[in-house]
Order: sequence, then C-alpha cells, then structure tokens
Amino acid sequence: MPKDLRGFIDLLEEKGLLIRVKKAVNRRFELAALIVKAQKIGKAILFENVSDSSIPVVSNVVGSRRMLALALDTDEEQLLEEYVKRSSNFIEAKIVDQGAVQEVVKVGEDATAEMLPIVTHSELDAGPYITAGIAVAKDPETGYRNASFNRMQLKGGQRLGIRMMPPQHLGIIHSKAESRGRNLEVAVVIGNHPAEMLAGSTTLPYNVDHFALAGALRREPLRLVRCKTIDLEVPADAEIVLEGEVLANVREEEGPYGDFMQFYVPPARNHVFKLKAITHRRNPIYQTILAGTVEDTTLLALSRESLVYKAVKETGSEVKAVSLTTNLFNCVISIKKKFEGEPKNVAMTAFGAYYWLKYCVVVDEDVDVYNLSDVWWAIATRSKPDTGLFTIPQARGFPRDPHNLHQTKVGIDATAPLYAKEEYRRRRIPNVESIKLEDYM
Ligand SMILES: Cc1cc2nc3c(=O)[nH]c(=O)nc-3n(C[C@H](O)[C@H](O)[C@H](O)COP(=O)(O)O)c2cc1C
Repeated sequence: MPKDLRGFIDLLEEKGLLIRVKKAVNRRFELAALIVKAQKIGKAILFENVSDSSIPVVSNVVGSRRMLALALDTDEEQLLEEYVKRSSNFIEAKIVDQGAVQEVVKVGEDATAEMLPIVTHSELDAGPYITAGIAVAKDPETGYRNASFNRMQLKGGQRLGIRMMPPQHLGIIHSKAESRGRNLEVAVVIGNHPAEMLAGSTTLPYNVDHFALAGALRREPLRLVRCKTIDLEVPADAEIVLEGEVLANVREEEGPYGDFMQFYVPPARNHVFKLKAITHRRNPIYQTILAGTVEDTTLLALSRESLVYKAVKETGSEVKAVSLTTNLFNCVISIKKKFEGEPKNVAMTAFGAYYWLKYCVVVDEDVDVYNLSDVWWAIATRSKPDTGLFTIPQARGFPRDPHNLHQTKVGIDATAPLYAKEEYRRRRIPNVESIKLEDYM
C-alpha cells in the first residue's frame, strides 16, 4: 500500500488510471473543466504546467470506489466491509523527528498563499479556493485533536477565509478558544494520502482522534511531525502544510462558493485564517477537489455507508451492500429478505443511523446498489407503490435547509414478494461475467 499521495499517484499511473496534462492550463475554470472530463472517464488527472506556478496540481485521485479500494489495498467488492473491519481497531499516530513535508520551510513574510496554485472552480465562486486542505486543531481544554476538510477562500497575502461552523468539531473547538479570548492554532494539510482524506471527511465522536482512524485504515501508525511555528502535529509525508491561526472575534464575508450540492452557498460572515508559515516537500504537488462531484461524494460516502451497514446488521437483517453514491442524501441497500415488511424496517434503521438521508431504496441481493439503472429496474419491476412507498414527515434531516426540503424521509421497498419469488426470479445468462468478447474477435 503506497504511504503517501505521490506513491498513490504512481500506482494510479501504473494501473492506467492517471492522465498527465503537459499543456499549459489556466487555474481559473479551465483546470476545473478538465477535472470534470477526467471524472467522466474515471481517471485521476495531474496538471504539470499550471498558469503562474511551478507547482503541479492533482485531482480526482479517489474519483471512484475502485480508486479508493486501490488506495486501501483492497478490492471494490470488499471496500465497505474492509472499512468497517479496519475502523473498529483505531491505531494511534506516532510522532517522528523529521518528515518530507518540512523539506522546505518558509516563515513570516516569505510565506504567502499566492505561492500555491490555488484553483478557481465554478463561475460565480468568490475567488480561488483551497478545497483539499485538512484542517488540524486541538481542543484548548482537553488537547483532543481534530482533522477535517474545510474550504478556504484566498483573500490575499497571509489571509484566507475558512468555513468552519459548529456542529462541525473545528467550529466547536474554535468557539472554545474564542470564549477564552484566544486565536486558535490551525494547520492545513494539502496533498494527502487517501487514508487521511477519508479520516478528514469522517464525522467521529468528539474526542476521537481522526489520525487514529487514518492509522486504522493504513493498518499502521500514521507518522506525524511537529509544526514549526504552532503547537500541532501534521502528517510527515504530506505535500504542503499551512501553519497559522483562526482569529478570535473576527468574521469576514466568504463566498459565494459552488458547494457539494452543486448550488452556490451565498456569501456569509465566516472565520478568518492568518498564515504564519508554509512547509512543503522540495517539489510539492498541490491537490484540489471539485466540490459536489464524484471525488467529494466518494470520500464522504464510505464512512456514512458504514454507519448504515452496521446499524442494519445489528438488527439481524442480512445486509449485502449499501450505497450512498451518487449523492449523500440517497441510499440504496441490498438485503437477503427474510420477512415481508422487513425492507421498511431496514429503511427506518438507515434513517436513524444517518440523519442526512432523505430517500432510501431497499432492493434484493441480486441488484447492484452501485448501478442506478439496476436500482431503477428493481423499482420499476418489483415495487408496489401503493404499499411499498412510505414517508416519514418532518424527521431530522440535513440542517442547512432554509426551505424545509430535507426533513421528510421517503422509503421504497423495491424487493420482490417472498411468496412469489420464482415469478420474480431474474433471468441469468451462464458465464456472462467471465466471458470475454476479445476472445471472439
Ligand atoms: C472536499 C471536502 C470539503 C469539505 N468542506 C467542508 C467545509 O468547508 N466546511 C465544513 O463544515 N465541512 C466540510 N466538509 C465536511 C467535513 O470535512 C466532514 O463533515 C467531517 O466529517 C467533519 O467532521 P468533524 O465534525 O468530526 O470534524 C468537507 C468535506 C470534503 C470531503
């Protein structure tokens, strides 16, 4: 298993899953447009010649479950179960004396965010945004360390806007520091291995260390180095770290920004990060993630799928697979149904386990939950809308919801009736999985 982002990029290239772009590319829109094209063919993309910068930019390194599985040294079919298994055994990070991420150190005036090829993604975005930065901070009371993705708007020089509202843990930690009249030290880590990317996109109970989850996914302790100007530790083999502080009692306009729902989040008075130092590898690779696309949702889905999978399994239902792609509000669960009515219990368990969920479709085990045309086939041929579809009005849903679109749940039982199983048996062509057309051409 590669230990760092660049090792993983090499592996992607070896497997034919990387596009190298040598032509000059503008970081305002052109680069994002090419990411979209790479995503359409399921590949990561490395821009070697980016406007006004000598630093290459990579994106879509986990743009599919296949790529994520590759990063974790497992296969696509096993990915969810492997995640559940590994994440039940957290492994504490270890602090080492030296790390590649500190090969170059720039402090004070020498450190400006403009030296990084920060990308402007969507037409109405307020400016260039850091979107693949994992913000690390510690609770001022308990020393608990948090790590989470937080978008950051380049404002100029040493100043960046950062979106970090409670109940997200970074927001809670900052409000504790602020109530003591103190700035909060924050390190922003860019260019991460997918294990850290997954850890940073997972909501863990407060006081549980995200880097111990990264260790669990790596099956060995994550190596950390101490920052140069602040009292925090960061992954030793990352590409770039911004060291700084989120200011107390300062809010400035941030946004608009094309966010994960693909809508523009309107401008709001958000927190401000003041840069103190930048450390990086000798030839760093900058990373960017296009919000609301397959890389973003692939990252966020896995840990939330595991919540649903574990909860349904606990009830005694035989759950085969869970998918929250292509959108984190929709879930498809395949089960080996034992009782009529069971799919409704399964859907209600899923709504309880993961409150952002809005639509939940339960299908039989012969349906591929990752293939939407297969799911629609099950809904079209096996569901009985008058009794199989149910709603739960006004439960807790996605919180950023000014027009109350996300608080009602919809469940769909798209499983065949048990008493008529044979009539709903799916036809199968023997050897269709293994036969190769090339052998006949
Ligand atoms: C690419 C990406 C960008 C994200 N940007 C933000 C953000 O700007 N603000 C935010 O609150 N959450 C953002 N998130 C979600 C958090 O990282 C995620 O919810 C995390 O689990 C927070 O967990 P915590 O509350 O345990 O720290 C982003 C996630 C991803 C994958």
